[in-house]
Amino acid sequence: MVADVKALWQTRYRQEPPVALPDNAVLRALMSHHSVRNYLPDPLPEGALEMGIAAASSAATSSNLQTWSVVAVEGAETRAKLAELSGGQKHIAVAPVFLVWVVDLSRLERIAQARGLTAEALDYEEAFLMSTLDTGIAAQNAVVAYESMGLGTVYIGGLRNHPEEVAALLGLPPRSVAVVGMCVGLPDPAHQNGFKPRLGQDAVVHRERYDAHDADAVAAYDKRANDYQQEQGLPSRLWSVTASDRVETKQGLGGRHVMRSVLNRLGFALK
Ligand SMILES: Cc1cc2nc3c(=O)[nH]c(=O)nc-3n(C[C@H](O)[C@H](O)[C@H](O)COP(=O)(O)O)c2cc1C
Repeated sequence: MVADVKALWQTRYRQEPPVALPDNAVLRALMSHHSVRNYLPDPLPEGALEMGIAAASSAATSSNLQTWSVVAVEGAETRAKLAELSGGQKHIAVAPVFLVWVVDLSRLERIAQARGLTAEALDYEEAFLMSTLDTGIAAQNAVVAYESMGLGTVYIGGLRNHPEEVAALLGLPPRSVAVVGMCVGLPDPAHQNGFKPRLGQDAVVHRERYDAHDADAVAAYDKRANDYQQEQGLPSRLWSVTASDRVETKQGLGGRHVMRSVLNRLGFALK
């Protein structure tokens, strides 16, 4: 564990901080994030699962509509099926808890129907976008909470490989979809990743107006990220090459280019 935010900044960006930095426990925790893919099978400490969800519930939510749900899966058989549906990601079967984060417009529909209302607004893409954003914000609060308790997490976007099968397995109602999964468990100390460097603030921060002249900043990041790859014993590859290869064709979406029609079938009209 690196001690202070200046050291964490240097690790995250592989650059010197340009200014003196505020330092506190929350900032240190946020900047210490790394995904965990190797878990001990031990159960979570008592109350940890619920506390993480409470952190999620405490996040801001658009118009206080609270349009997300989470399915906490602890059963080994269901986790094994979800691992398979997510592209054979073994950590899902090993970590004791798998949280399935659900964009959930179904609850509002039920509430509206109980009052004899149509809930027309839920048919629009904006409602889906709003709910997706809220779900992600909530999930990230849970990540921070779990990490603060010494637990590890990794998001599982692979859960979107087969949204209809996941919906059937978990009994999700129409107008809800599992958008991301999350393993939660005790990290196996024998196998842990380092802190992956991120694009510098020279690439991602725009002052007053957007500036698209970012080629030098990206090239400099490529070099820093490649140094990390080599230190980790991973193949040497430039981030910009990997990232742009990934978006070159729809094949990079891993079969999820059909998402609009899948969402339509799950009850999202996306008008
Ligand atoms: C929405 C989302 C989906 C992700 N899906 C997966 C996944 O399916 N499998 C996996 O091993 N990691 C997944 N990740 C983790 C990313 O690969 C990881 O965050 C990224 O490589 C940066 O590494 P770090 O989190 O260790 O800093 C996902 C992350 C996010 C935010």
